[in-house]
Order: sequence, then structure tokens, then C-alpha cells
Amino acid sequence: MDLAIVVLAAGQGKRMHSDTPKVLQRLAGRALLAHVLDAARELAPQRIVVVYGHGGDRVRAAFPDTGLTWVEQRERLGTGHALMQALPEVPQGAQVLVLSGDVPLISVDTLQRLLKAGAEGELALLTSELGDARGYGRVVRDGNGRIARIAEEKDATPAEREIREWYTGFLTAPRARLESWLARIGNRNAQGEYYLTDVIGLAAGDGLDVASARAADLDEVQGVNSRGELARLERALQRGNATRLLEAGVTLADPERIDVRGSLACGRDVSIDVNCVFEGEVTLGNRVRIGPNCVIKNMSIADDSEVHAFTLMEDAAVGARCRIGPYARLRPGARLEEAVHIGNFVEVKASRFAAGSKANHLAYIGDSEVGARVNVGAGTITCNYDGASKHRTVIEDDCFIGSNATLVAPVKIAQGSYIGAGSTISKDTPPGQLTLARARQVSVEGWKPPKKEKR
Ligand code: UD1
Ligand code: MG
Repeated sequence: MDLAIVVLAAGQGKRMHSDTPKVLQRLAGRALLAHVLDAARELAPQRIVVVYGHGGDRVRAAFPDTGLTWVEQRERLGTGHALMQALPEVPQGAQVLVLSGDVPLISVDTLQRLLKAGAEGELALLTSELGDARGYGRVVRDGNGRIARIAEEKDATPAEREIREWYTGFLTAPRARLESWLARIGNRNAQGEYYLTDVIGLAAGDGLDVASARAADLDEVQGVNSRGELARLERALQRGNATRLLEAGVTLADPERIDVRGSLACGRDVSIDVNCVFEGEVTLGNRVRIGPNCVIKNMSIADDSEVHAFTLMEDAAVGARCRIGPYARLRPGARLEEAVHIGNFVEVKASRFAAGSKANHLAYIGDSEVGARVNVGAGTITCNYDGASKHRTVIEDDCFIGSNATLVAPVKIAQGSYIGAGSTISKDTPPGQLTLARARQVSVEGWKPPKKEKR
């Protein structure tokens, strides 16, 4: 049977106290809904329908061209009402799987088990168990252990509130069945809402077997309703990332203090100190060492390179045996070849450093081509911007740029040039010569310090 997935995502998320729609709140750097859609796509359904409501335009805009079908639920009249809005977009004859836009860690494996249970029993629920299931719909079973209905917290009797098995918000059933059950539900209950969970009582009342599957753990069925829950799930997800890295042979100084917001691929014997944040796609080669408190986004760092504390790098590439930081900043387009050293308070943007070059202290190198074995002195900057456009600086192989040099681009420092400290270089230099561009030093003989006038 063809599969159609409906994601209920019209919730407001009042308890987040935010101007951002709940499903756009971020977990591991991505919207909650993005995590749910990842799981949905892995099941390769014929269609994915997202029911949106509050802040809907922003939600749609956050997911352009992804082959999703969007349905607006103008009034938030309950989960049953939300699914009713979606059904016209669900192909006839499809098996429907209902997901929640705010339950981001659901595993594909669990959803597959739920679908399997549904294939036998027509209607299947994903349930879980808690010592105290307060706030959730309780799964009421009859004397034979068969599911009879769901009792919502606010409508449950004291005895039903003792039930530990709760409904996680995930279910599956054939489209036609859902349509007929939903036509029969009302809103005469404690919340005046159309409860999707009322279809369970209707199905059981029709004599159908309602199947169930168990969630593998609590994190995967945990919804996000508050900042506290969001923070807890973030840690749960990051703990999972840390566990996978440890199992793959990466040394983590503290598995509780690493954040991977994207994908991190590591070679052998990589070590990562505390409080590092990895974003986007990051690849670390063999024996790469990352010091504490680094932020590394969309980077590749090759074998045996070392990144010292408090370094920030983004959209750049680092070759083998480099030494970066502490307190270095690589901005987009920085390309370091082998054995390059970039030291403290050095910023590199859209520039290539060839093998063995160094800028060890306090420098800005932007829009530049730096050859091999170049030494860039402390305080050196490339003046790449004239207020209107950017210009390039070329420093050829084996140059020595003295401290506090100012290289006014466009300019070329030819091979083997020496630049005297404190020079402002605005013209190309000849190869192999010392170029100085600073006022000559003078000392005044017989000079006397000024005296205060007496009054
Ligand atoms: C729902 C279940 C409850 C279950 C719990 C699990 C119902 C009536 N109750 O309760 O049995 O234990 O989830 O978390 O279904 N939504 C819409 N439109 C609406 C209302 C809700 O799209 O009009 C969406 C929400 O964005 C959310 C999901 O449906 O993603 C669940 O809604 P929520 O209000 O959180 O339901 P609960 O009261 O938690
Ligand atoms: Mg909820």
C-alpha cells in the first residue's frame, strides 16, 4: 500500500514564549520540523503533507522546494480537526502515518515497527510507558488487554490517570478508515477540541483490533513544549553524537561538552577538547587535535593538524600539519596548504597560504595569495578595501614581511622580497630586495625639553 505521511505542525507553542513558531525552534542547529522531515523522507512515502497554522508563512518559507504538500489549518480546533484538513491532499488508498512536528528525535526504525504493526491491525498506535504519564493521553485496554480507547488527561477518571501506558501522538491507519472515523468525532470534551485520539475508541467499537508498537526510548517520543524540554532534547541528541564519535575511535575530553550541529567525520586518533562546536559539514583527518572552545563550521582539516584554543573557522580548508590558533580566525575562502602556521589574533579571509608560510601574531590577510615559506610579521595587514571595492595582494615565495607592514592592495610583493618593519607598501616590489617605506629616523642634537613658564 502506498504510504502518505501527515505531519501535524499547527501548534503555537505558547509555553516557548517566543515569536518564532514552535516547529522552527532549533535543535542541533536545525528546525524541529527539519528533523521530523528527515525521518519522514527516509520512509520514502508517496507524499508528505504538513499541516501548519500559527506563523505558517514563516514555516513554509523555511522549507522551500522540498516537495512537500502544505495545508493550512486556519483555526486550531484539535488534532482530529488538523488531520481532517490534511486528508483531501492524501492520495486515495494510501496508508497514512501521522507524525508530530514537535517530536524531533523519532527514529526511522521505530516508525517502521509502527507501520509493520499497522499492516496487521489496520490501526496502530505508538505507545510508551511512564511511572507518571501526567499530561498525556492514557491507553485504556480491556480485560483481554486489547486497546479500547484513549483517555485524554483532562477527561480521564482518577483510575485512568493511574495508567502508565500513554499514547505518543504517532499512529497509522488506511486513509479511508480515518476519513470515516473522523467524520464521526465531536468536540464535546474537557477541551472543546476535536481529538484525533477519539478514532481509537471508534475503531475498537467497530470491532477492529487496534495494534500497538512500543517506542524504543523516551527521548524519541519526547515532544518539545518548553525551553526546558528543548534543552533536554538537545543534550540527548548531543550525547548520541558523542557516543557515536567515541565508538568510532575519537577521543573526547568530555562527551557532555561537545556540540555537533551537522555532520562531523573524523579519521583515526582524532582528539577534541571541551566545549567545541561543529557546524555544517566538518571533516577532520587522521590525528587532528582540536583544543578547547573552538567553533568549526563547514571545514576540512587534513592529517596531523592542530587547532589551539578559542579558534573560529568557517568555510575554509586546512592542509596537513598546520598549526592554527590560539585565538585565530579563518573566514570563508581561507585555504591553507601544508604546514602553515596561523597564530593568535590572526584573521585570514579569501586567501591562500602555500606550504610552510606563517603569520604567527596579530595580522589581517584578506583577498591574498601568499606563496611558500613566507613569514608575515606581527601587526601586518593587507589593505584590501578602498571603501568601494576589494583588491588583491600577492606575496610570492620566500618573502619576509616585517612587523606592522601595511600592504595597500592591489600590490605584488615579488619573490624573496624583504619588507622593513612599519612600511606602508603601495607599489609592487622588485624580487630579492629590501624595501622600506617609512620616514627616516632622526635624532636632534642639543635638543632640550620644554620648561614650564613661571608666573
Ligand atoms: C496529544 C494527544 C495525546 C498524546 C499527546 C502526545 C490528542 C487529542 N491528544 O495531546 O493523547 O498523549 O499528544 O504528545 O491528540 N496540532 C495541530 N492542530 C491542532 C492541534 C494540534 O496541528 O489543532 C498539532 C500540534 O502542533 C502537535 C500535535 O498536533 O504537533 C499534538 O498536539 P498537542 O496540542 O501537543 O496535543 P497534546 O495535548 O499534547
Ligand atoms: Mg503536546
